[in-house]
Amino acid sequence: MSQAKKVAIIGSGNLGQALAYRLVSSGYQVTIGSRNPQRQNFTTTLDDSIMKEVHVGTVKNCFLIPDISVVFLAIHHRNAADLLSPIRTLLSGKILVDASNRTEPCQTGSNAEELASHFPEARIVKGFNTLSANALQSDIAVEDVHRVHLAADDVAARETVACIVKDIGFCPVYVGDLQAARRIEAYPLQVLPGWGGPTVISCAIFFVWLGIMVIKYSVKYAKSKESFPWERIPLTLLNLLVCLTAITLLAITYLPGCLAAFAQLYNGTKYKLFPSWLDFWLRCRKMLGLFALLFSVWHAIMSIAFLSPGSMRWWYEPITDWKANSTNAVHRYRLNATGESALTLGILSLLLLILTGLSSLPSLSAVFNWGEWRLIQSHVGYTALFLAVVHVFAMSSRGWLMHSTSFFYWNSFLCCVLPCLVLAMKLFLMLPCVSHLLSRIRDGKDRRPFLRGRGERKCVDIQLLENDTV
Ligand SMILES: NC(=O)c1ccc[n+]([C@@H]2O[C@H](COP(=O)([O-])OP(=O)(O)OC[C@H]3O[C@@H](n4cnc5c(N)ncnc54)[C@H](OP(=O)(O)O)[C@@H]3O)[C@@H](O)[C@H]2O)c1
Ligand code: HEM
Repeated sequence: MSQAKKVAIIGSGNLGQALAYRLVSSGYQVTIGSRNPQRQNFTTTLDDSIMKEVHVGTVKNCFLIPDISVVFLAIHHRNAADLLSPIRTLLSGKILVDASNRTEPCQTGSNAEELASHFPEARIVKGFNTLSANALQSDIAVEDVHRVHLAADDVAARETVACIVKDIGFCPVYVGDLQAARRIEAYPLQVLPGWGGPTVISCAIFFVWLGIMVIKYSVKYAKSKESFPWERIPLTLLNLLVCLTAITLLAITYLPGCLAAFAQLYNGTKYKLFPSWLDFWLRCRKMLGLFALLFSVWHAIMSIAFLSPGSMRWWYEPITDWKANSTNAVHRYRLNATGESALTLGILSLLLLILTGLSSLPSLSAVFNWGEWRLIQSHVGYTALFLAVVHVFAMSSRGWLMHSTSFFYWNSFLCCVLPCLVLAMKLFLMLPCVSHLLSRIRDGKDRRPFLRGRGERKCVDIQLLENDTV
């Protein structure tokens, strides 16, 4: 347990109460400093037996308790100066943890820097603003999910706060000196960071397939006497669009990994930077994979909803019911070999995609060691892509053979081109001689060290020197 067994919290609002609850649950003695200590109106949802152990006093009182060196500021930044100025002399040497957030990004200085310039006698540590009150109240062990970013000029003060962070079951992350508080305060203002690019790419793929389908159906129905089946847009046609998007997204999730491996083979080193477009694409993989999973689940639900001998004739065969009369017999159907195999392959592919998606969740990835995680993310993901391709082959190959001159215009064929290319690249990379070479390069053993030069990372030489020594 850290030295600071007694701490104080200024502010009895949502964060103040949640923090007090968590600290008391972890064995700390907590005093809350409030403008109205007699009120003590703690939220009823918190465990009463724990909250009874929290002392409540005036703000000044918190700074007078001798053993208390760490004081959390669970108040809005706009109120901090007014609240602390009258007791300025008591702040000397105290560690003030500024948990405040902003409503807009800071242009010049952060809340924490402003606080430090107002009260230079205090030791300011920025932290806890990225945690929600809800996360603090949760009893689930969330160490790997919830990191507490800390920034401070005073290293000893930062260490003391980091010990408290660990004691209450979270994970401290040092971000830098107090200026780094600008970044910490910016985190809660970011809405789904990193998702913009993958969202645009996923929508673009959806609309490209929509465009292809609109052109094809326009040409087809312009020549034909039949009218366009408008009534099939909400489910059947949308389902086609969704599954085409799903398989394409899955392929472009794995394509950059293959391209990166080819680039490393070509460069003969892992230290040459990838072109910026490939670097961006590699960073989008997780989100693209999750979009692929979303579209696959959507496709599976819609497919199961409309799956019937009426809508999918070529997946069913009539069966004879010996007990019934002949009129009933012809109206009974069961899945044929095409339907059975296509369905099973689709379901298997979906299950593997779900496994890959689940393993990317921070709370679940902690369950796997690095080898297991890599196996799931890479091999299971490629197997899901392979099964999805075979799922389409199983349902379409007979049709392709029957229309051997025109099948390459079919959506079912077009949508498999990119996935097959990715699978072929992966197979090539798995060849023993190629994978051995790639492993050596990824272990830092350059194939062509003379290529070292522009575009390499700064740390390269240090690592190469170490390898040379070995
Ligand atoms: N809530 C969260 O999940 C969360 C998470 C991370 C960071 N934060 C940050 O933590 C700070 C507090 O958030 P909160 O949600 O706990 O806010 P809150 O529920 O509104 O509580 C703020 C507390 O500040 C105290 N206070 C001191 N001077 C005040 C004044 N002049 N006017 C009003 N209240 C005054 C009050 O406590 P007394 O009445 O006892 O004096 C009040 O309960 C904010 O800067 C917020 O950005 C909150
Ligand atoms: C429970 C899982 C799944 C079921 C029940 C299922 C079912 C179906 C059905 C019924 C069709 C025929 C649709 C039609 O012709 O109107 C189909 C086609 C297709 N499915 Fe699936 N599927 C599943 C999983 C997947 C997955 C995971 C992918 C890929 C990521 C996928 C990709 C495709 C593609 C590309 C087509 C071909 C579209 C075409 O013929 O143009 N499916 N699936």
